[in-house]
Amino acid sequence: MTAILGISAFYHDSAAALVIDGEIVAAAQEERFTRVKHDERFPQNAIDYCLAEAGLRPQQLDAAAFYDKPFLKFHRLMETYLAFAPRGLRSFMKVLPRWLKQRLHVPKEIDKSLADAYEGPIYFPAHHESHAASAFFPSPFARAAIITMDGVGEWATASWGTGEGNRVKLHKEIHFPHSLGLLYSAFTYFTGFRVNSGEYKLMGLAPYGEPKYADLIRRELIDIKEDGSFWLNQKYFDYCCGLKMTSRKFARLFGGPRREPEAYITQREMDLAASVQAVTEDIMLRMARHVQAKTGMTNLCLAGGVALNCVGNGRVLREGPFENIWIQPAAGDAGGAIGAALIAWHHVMAQPRTPAQPDSQHGSYLGPGCDGEEIRTYLDSAGARYTRFADEDELCDKVGELLAAGRIVGHVAGRMEFGPRALGHRSILGDPRNPQMQETMNLKIKFRESFRPFAPSCLAERTGDYFDPPCDSPYMLLVTGVHPDRRKPVSDERPGESMIDKLHIARSDIPAVTHVDCSARLQTVDGGQSPRYYKIIKAFEARTGCGVLVNTSFNVRGEPIVCTAADAYRCFMFTNVDALVLEDCLCLKEDQPPMAGAEEYKKRFKPD
Ligand SMILES: [Fe+2]
Repeated sequence: MTAILGISAFYHDSAAALVIDGEIVAAAQEERFTRVKHDERFPQNAIDYCLAEAGLRPQQLDAAAFYDKPFLKFHRLMETYLAFAPRGLRSFMKVLPRWLKQRLHVPKEIDKSLADAYEGPIYFPAHHESHAASAFFPSPFARAAIITMDGVGEWATASWGTGEGNRVKLHKEIHFPHSLGLLYSAFTYFTGFRVNSGEYKLMGLAPYGEPKYADLIRRELIDIKEDGSFWLNQKYFDYCCGLKMTSRKFARLFGGPRREPEAYITQREMDLAASVQAVTEDIMLRMARHVQAKTGMTNLCLAGGVALNCVGNGRVLREGPFENIWIQPAAGDAGGAIGAALIAWHHVMAQPRTPAQPDSQHGSYLGPGCDGEEIRTYLDSAGARYTRFADEDELCDKVGELLAAGRIVGHVAGRMEFGPRALGHRSILGDPRNPQMQETMNLKIKFRESFRPFAPSCLAERTGDYFDPPCDSPYMLLVTGVHPDRRKPVSDERPGESMIDKLHIARSDIPAVTHVDCSARLQTVDGGQSPRYYKIIKAFEARTGCGVLVNTSFNVRGEPIVCTAADAYRCFMFTNVDALVLEDCLCLKEDQPPMAGAEEYKKRFKPD
């Protein structure tokens, strides 16, 4: 047996992964354990979990792999500072101690985290090599083209290459400071959202706007070549030496200062979102066409933070030249932990690779499960009232019945998802046909006034009934359209109407999951990866005829997705979730004794 620990840390979404004999047996993000969203600290808890999942002691590990090359990254930091000095001194002085104290001493950190019991080698693949490996090795393809795009690794911000057999090879890179991820983050910042977190919101905001500034962006900010490579005009950005993303010139170009976080969202922000989204999609498509022409491949693998742009992914699938696409569900830096470990296995140890169907990611259900006894011990200690179901079919049927009756159900079962999306194991579920569902879920459960609709989980065999074009999207990484037969004609010409009002107009017969442009961020569910989640949707379908559920992550705004029974019960008790399923236990809200601490709970998590 060969066990390899993969680690990613110190930027955002630190994570650990364990690969045994080439199989990904465990992977988790540190934030789920520490309850600090996007936690960047060394992933001690995630490492401990991975070892515990496999019943391994540190001395039984054969190799460890870190997802990038810290010295090269530090070199980029120094070079960038020197190029702009003395500008940027303040931000440089802020990060320098962190590098000197910890980030340059990864082997020491790994030794410490493994209680000094590990004696084996530590490998440091390049950042984009880790992304590429995380995209290709778990994919179902024997051969594929690979594109990675993110903020920045060491120097590279994007790369393309090929995967064949047990090798991943990068052919071309784009280097810092020219970065599509950082361009998107600059607009995230400028529109008042949190960088490395609010990019999703910017994407969700885009359908409300017109791409009015797209030409201006192309003219002033970014020079895009036919092959999808690009050059960013640094006079508009401040990320090289400042603590901000954009410069004063940027604000001048777009007619005034950035939106303050939490301030009212105006048409300008919506248009900016639509514009940068259009430019991003353009680059993704150009790059896909170029890479396909260069490689002649029919399959494409994607990773890097930009691959979480599911609207762009959907367009690459529909309009791009590739027949098949596979995207690493933990496409951001967390997934680098998997990539690094798989590089050690396939490249360093030269082990062969046999692609598996539908893939080797195991539905991304790679995190900790909840042990039945622990659940009951917790529920008893909290004085909770619950019913145990010996028969899973009976429980799923009951959940289907509750959902059909309009109740909102928190569902915790099986192993936690790896990556930013909840895929049914740590999810809050509801009826997508209910026009009020979206508002109730946002205001009474997530405690947010959101302009984004929720995502649909659809029975795989019924995708064509609800979405057009239908696609296979098990990881909720592709946006497609709601089927025209299900759409309702509505006029958007209502003066004085706010953005939120627009979202409340029922645009289809599944309004809670239909965006203003009639798109939907689809998850397809088949019985293979999560039989239980499939059964729940089936039970709902049996009662209602509807093969779709609303699926939103089980958390409140700013909170990492729930991990343990205690996290889930608290979130259930302090929100308007009506029922909670914890493996074989069902708690109904009306049966529960009151629980203190609701106000502190809501204040605990910073808005994202
Ligand atoms: Fe990255």
